[in-house]
Amino acid sequence: MEPTQVLKDEHRLIERMLKVLEAACQKAEQGDMRPLVFEKAVDFIKNYADRNHHGKEEDILYATMPQYGIPKEGGPIAVMLYEHDDGRKFVKGLVEATENYKKGNQAALKAMVSNARGYVNLLGQHIPKEDGILYPMSEAVLPPKAKEELARQFVEADKKVFTPAQRAGYLRAVAELEHELGLNSK
Ligand SMILES: [Fe+2]
Ligand SMILES: [Fe+2]
Repeated sequence: MEPTQVLKDEHRLIERMLKVLEAACQKAEQGDMRPLVFEKAVDFIKNYADRNHHGKEEDILYATMPQYGIPKEGGPIAVMLYEHDDGRKFVKGLVEATENYKKGNQAALKAMVSNARGYVNLLGQHIPKEDGILYPMSEAVLPPKAKEELARQFVEADKKVFTPAQRAGYLRAVAELEHELGLNSK
């Protein structure tokens, strides 16, 4: 198994959360506002998608690839890192808008939806680039020893970020939100 399989599996759960967020946006626009769904999505994005998943990409995978001839600057890695930062801006905007909405500012709903959609659209095109280009690139250039080291570092990083129970909790949280929004989970 390629070490990037761990990251691909995480992409599948993140994609499920993107569908939840898009469904929450549509409901909000129809007047069925569910701020708690947005808050749970933000918790997932900050911790599971960013700290856990982007953490492994930035600190381990994209830090290793330059040692094997894929430049960090001016190439696809730089684009991926830039997009991670863009995602953080949307999340910051979503958090601020949600706080304003909860304080009674109805107009903040628009900003909630636009930041959530911005994030969904960004990640929706970021993930296929990693699955289809960046990860295969790493699989092509990294020698077996480096892949073993990558897998080892991923396991170490996972232990630092979440307990197994917390990790399982995020899986459960996505399934619960899918259920709440009437989406079919696989
Ligand atoms: Fe990424
Ligand atoms: Fe990713």
